[in-house]
Formats: sequence, C-alpha cells, structure tokens
Amino acid sequence: MEIVILDDAEAIGKLAADQVCGLLARKPDAVLGLATGSSPLATYDELARRCAAGEVSFGRARAFTLDEYVGLPEDHPERYRNVIDRELTGRVDLDPSRVAGPDGLAEDVPAACAAYERAIADAGGVDLQILGIGTDGHIGFNEPGSSLASRTRIQTLTRQTRLDNARFFDGDLDAVPTHCLTQGLATIMAARHVVLVATGSGKAQAVHQLAEGPVSAMWPASVLQHHPHVSVLVDEAAAGRLQLAGYYRETYLAKPAWQGL
Ligand code: GLP
Repeated sequence: MEIVILDDAEAIGKLAADQVCGLLARKPDAVLGLATGSSPLATYDELARRCAAGEVSFGRARAFTLDEYVGLPEDHPERYRNVIDRELTGRVDLDPSRVAGPDGLAEDVPAACAAYERAIADAGGVDLQILGIGTDGHIGFNEPGSSLASRTRIQTLTRQTRLDNARFFDGDLDAVPTHCLTQGLATIMAARHVVLVATGSGKAQAVHQLAEGPVSAMWPASVLQHHPHVSVLVDEAAAGRLQLAGYYRETYLAKPAWQGL
C-alpha cells in the first residue's frame, strides 16, 4: 500500500485522473470501478476536463459502480446510477450502456447481486477501482462487521453513514434509505489497482486504521492491506493521524519517476 500525501483535493484529483488516463492509453477497453460520494468529485471533474480537451477517450471503456441504495425510484437524483451519470459518465464519451450498477430496485435481491458479480467477471474484472472511504472505515457500503470475504449483497446502513449522507437528502435523515446493495470486500479486492481518495480531518481516523491499524472487520477498508496494489491519496488533514506520515512523504519524494503509482 502506498500512501501519497498531497496539498489538496485538486492535486489528488489530478493524480487519480493521471492513473485513469494512463490506463486508458495502455488499454482503451479497460474496466473502471467507480465510486460515488464527494471524495472522487475532483477526479471526475479533471477527467471530464481532459476528455473535453481530447486528451482521453472513454469510448471503449466499461464501468461498474460500487453500490446502490435500495428502493430509490429510477429518477431519484441521489440514486447512485444517476449520481455517477451526473458526475462522470454523462460528462465523458462513455456510452451509458457500458456503465452498470447493482439494481437497487430488484425484486429478487440475491439473484441481482449474483448477476452483478457475473457481469463484472464476464467483463474481465475491474482494472482500476476508484474508492472513497466512510468515516467509519467503510468502502463501498461495507459497514463495520462486514465479512472480509463478502461479495455483492444487501447491507443495512449504519446510523453514522445515514447521518453522513443526509446532506445529500436536504439534511433529512429519514429520507436516507436504510439499505443498500454493495460490492463486497472480496469483490473490491479483486480489482487490479485500487486508488482510494480521502480529504478532510473527518477521514483521518479511518485513513489511519486503513493503513496502520490491524486488519479487521471493524475497519473494513483495512482489508486493503492484503491487496498488492493500492494507492491511497490523501490531503494533509486526512493524513493527520498517520503515524508514519513523514516516512510516506520521504518515500514519495524519493520515488523514481518511471515507477508511477
Ligand atoms: C458513501 C459511499 C462510498 C463513499 C463514502 C464516502 O456512503 N457509499 O462509496 O466512498 O460513503 O463518501 P464521501 O466521499 O462523500 O465522504
């Protein structure tokens, strides 16, 4: 796991966008894993800008989103499928038919989750997964207590996550769904490269546990310590509790340019 401490969200967005663009240059039909939430927005803005400038094309790429609320109507602005269209896929040259997400309106939930796992596998697996992290250490919507071997399934959201996300629902906690479908931790672990972005002091404890805590279902993101290729891009505030921050800075500064992330 590599920790990169950068000045601000814009610098994080640029470095994350570099990874996506580098991948698409090498492999135009790459499979991207996309996260919602506010953390990846700077990355998506940068990708939309580069696509408009003709610097990158998503024309042959495919994308899978991480998670979805259960029960939000198809036209609800906070349905993650609509969020990702608004924030990224609708702003780049990626055909909507090449973007998939878990079906939060499925009548047969286990069948829909199994179908989603199959769709990812049939596409060849995710090449690059963009991730955020919840204040309680969740990735996707894998809340504390999630099996480290979990696959796409239904989850009950914690009160903390619903409080965190109420800002997207006009501050109305009751409007935040209680359940979601989410890729499991093992699903996320199967991605070939994971780029996790986090900003702000509210994420400092989760980032510390992710990188430096014991691997534990209590901090689900800590499972990424078992992944061979994870890049964690954080600002100073999100790095505020890292015990080895000085070492991470030195390492990144001394890194040969050819190595990339
Ligand atoms: C949300 C999403 C996650 C996201 C996380 C952090 O609930 N399900 O995919 O990474 O929580 O969100 P934010 O980036 O807005 O802080």
